[in-house]
Amino acid sequence: MQVVVLIGGLGTRLYPLTYTTPKCLLPIGNKHFLSILLDWLKRNAVTDVVFAVSHFAPTIAEFIKSDLADCGIPITLRHETDPLGSAGALVNCADLLQDDFILLNGDVLMDLNLEELIEFHRKNSAAVTTTVSEVDDPSHYGILDVQEDGRTLDWQEKPTREDAKSKWGNVGAWAMTKRVLDFIPAGRFTSLEKETFPQILAEGLLFYAYKFKGYWKDIGTVDKYVQANRDLLNGVISGLQPAGKEIQPGIWVESPECVPDDIQVTSPAAIGKDCRIGSGVKLAGPVVIGSDVQIGDGVQMASTVVWHGASVGSGTKMSSSVLGGATIGAECVLNPGCVVATNSAVADRSVLASNTSLGPGSRLP
Ligand code: GTP
Repeated sequence: MQVVVLIGGLGTRLYPLTYTTPKCLLPIGNKHFLSILLDWLKRNAVTDVVFAVSHFAPTIAEFIKSDLADCGIPITLRHETDPLGSAGALVNCADLLQDDFILLNGDVLMDLNLEELIEFHRKNSAAVTTTVSEVDDPSHYGILDVQEDGRTLDWQEKPTREDAKSKWGNVGAWAMTKRVLDFIPAGRFTSLEKETFPQILAEGLLFYAYKFKGYWKDIGTVDKYVQANRDLLNGVISGLQPAGKEIQPGIWVESPECVPDDIQVTSPAAIGKDCRIGSGVKLAGPVVIGSDVQIGDGVQMASTVVWHGASVGSGTKMSSSVLGGATIGAECVLNPGCVVATNSAVADRSVLASNTSLGPGSRLP
């Protein structure tokens, strides 16, 4: 089974985190999203993967070379000079594609069984099969008008609640046959959702929906990214655990020798490699601490995600925030909803109001 993964978008809804890190390399439970994706593809008998890249292509290529070279699945990178949109990116891979294949949005964490999806697609001789799940708010999703057997009559892109013809929303995983490419003009920005799918439906090609009841979450906004970390820590994603060893129920540690005895950790929590953690630190889960993080004496953190290389001064308190590889001084307070990007620095005794967002390289004296 061949899989094409779209990972060339700008990820603007995740700013400031994605100014310096591509969305597909964000850490979740101390694992890079792409590593999690590859493990899942391996469990699904995938035989080859094509990554459609554009924005951050060299960074992604470097990561694949250094971290995924031994993953056991042949990987091809197909590059777009400028992002071509979901359809444009797909047609740009045309010469690499088999007769039928899986297409994935490369920002969705899920435990979908891809073999069942492609089997359903082949059984129906469909041109396109979209994985769908029941959604609460149709205005954020592509909504499919689906019959009992999955035959799809219409695709509405982000309709209002009143206009939505169903609750079945697009998850971001499709099975497709190659003839879909005949409907996509090459060399320009095109969207599957806005152009190709409506055209295919209008032409009467067989279009099906595969109803999925398992776990899925796109990590496209800061809130969803944080929730994905929590879900992983809470064990709700089948086949997926945080990095490290579970030293107590719900507490995962990569370098146990770096965790002092006098700290208080409430599960769920994950602590990465080679951290320096001071005495009297309190971590109230769900908390993820990346590798090489320095945490001063008496720091208190609750519901927070901290990336590789961050440093937090003594006595600082933070809750429900995301800290890139930033430096936070001593005795600071980060109120809920703060996002501090990599390479920014916050001086001692600073107080960040709720939902403060600091871009990379910011200096807060
Ligand atoms: P926002 O700017 O926050 O909307 O994020 P995004 O650019 O990633 O767009 P979106 O969340 O809709 O993308 C879903 C998936 O498709 C992500 O994995 C993107 O990386 C990928 N993607 C989006 N646009 C393109 C594109 O033009 N080319 C390629 N190769 N991938 C894309």
